[in-house]
Amino acid sequence: MSGTACKSHNLGGRRRVVVTKPLPGERWLEMLVAADCRVEVCGSTRPLSAADVTEVMEPGCDAVIAQLTERWDRELLSALHDAGGRVLSNYAVGYDNVDVPAATALGIAVGNTPGILTETTAELAVALTFAAARRVVEADRFVSEGRFTGWLPSLFLGKRLWRKTLGVVGAGRIGAAYARMLVEGHKMDLLYFDPRENRQLESFVAEYGAFLASRGEAPVTCRRVARLEDLLSGADVVSLHLALDESTTHVIDAARLAQMKEGAILVNSARGPLIDERALVEHCRRHPSFHAALDVFEHEPRLTLGLVELDNVVTLPHLGSATGWTRRAMATLAAANVIGVLSGWPVSAGEVTPFLSPEPPRAAPSIVNAAALRLPVLEAPAPRGDGVVKANV
Ligand code: DGY
Repeated sequence: MSGTACKSHNLGGRRRVVVTKPLPGERWLEMLVAADCRVEVCGSTRPLSAADVTEVMEPGCDAVIAQLTERWDRELLSALHDAGGRVLSNYAVGYDNVDVPAATALGIAVGNTPGILTETTAELAVALTFAAARRVVEADRFVSEGRFTGWLPSLFLGKRLWRKTLGVVGAGRIGAAYARMLVEGHKMDLLYFDPRENRQLESFVAEYGAFLASRGEAPVTCRRVARLEDLLSGADVVSLHLALDESTTHVIDAARLAQMKEGAILVNSARGPLIDERALVEHCRRHPSFHAALDVFEHEPRLTLGLVELDNVVTLPHLGSATGWTRRAMATLAAANVIGVLSGWPVSAGEVTPFLSPEPPRAAPSIVNAAALRLPVLEAPAPRGDGVVKANV
């Protein structure tokens, strides 16, 4: 084995749960121990290989709390299945690292952690947006390198976003939260592209626009566009909030970059492969007034050659959900998914916040293949005790 030393907790536990990285907080561990689980926490901070994970699972494993840095393909899922596993609880809202159809075929439930990282990730996307618009990183470097010799009228002129046009690609939970932050706080007009209409978001912007108009201020507007090109050519800021799959890989390529405004800002806090990074490097080289702000990378953690040398690119190490509260809450939900499935409880179809309370519902908070596995679904999370179980779906 290449360094997958694990720390064991509750050696006498009836079920064995492997956690592939140490997680923040203690509650998740207390919950697993209270549910009679022996918990093996792998200590390495580097991404584990499939061989490493297989080796840790081999003595027998009922469930894994997994990381987005691991590729859970058919082979690794089969190893989990052969070890006796029934749950793969992904410590993330995104689960593009998991072959869900393969998991379903093997009868493995796949959990994720939605809901609790919505605002946190949207906040980071806002931070990236302004970091790019106001050249925060470049300017910070300038000061820390001792190059600031006094105020100047033309030092680090940036872009004013107030009342400009925001383009949100993917108006799900995080995209909509990000849109609201900038529409409400910064009075930006909204264009959004999403195969599904987000009525809640649209009515929020309409009502907010009416409120502004009632105060004699210019209203804000919202328009869903049918073609991505219309958003790209009309927006001053384009922020990506799509799930990654074959249809969204390289959704921003050289041709799409060329459709954007010369001085636009492109923000990606979703998944790296949404952008063709080589095309982005080329575009940023040729258009110094264009800015990109990235929290995720196409070949994460490897960076495309030339990316970090560019002054008009801001880069962060995948921090979207990185606040202490959120990461602890994600750990709690990940543990609750394991416990819920191993206990044979139904899957919740409601809000996840009740799962953070001292008396969580007797359900699994979020299992993405619940319907395909025909697991019973609890329509609204009931208080601890007996929820009403809806029929199999
Ligand atoms: C997720 O949950 O999918 C994020 O990328 C982790 O922050």
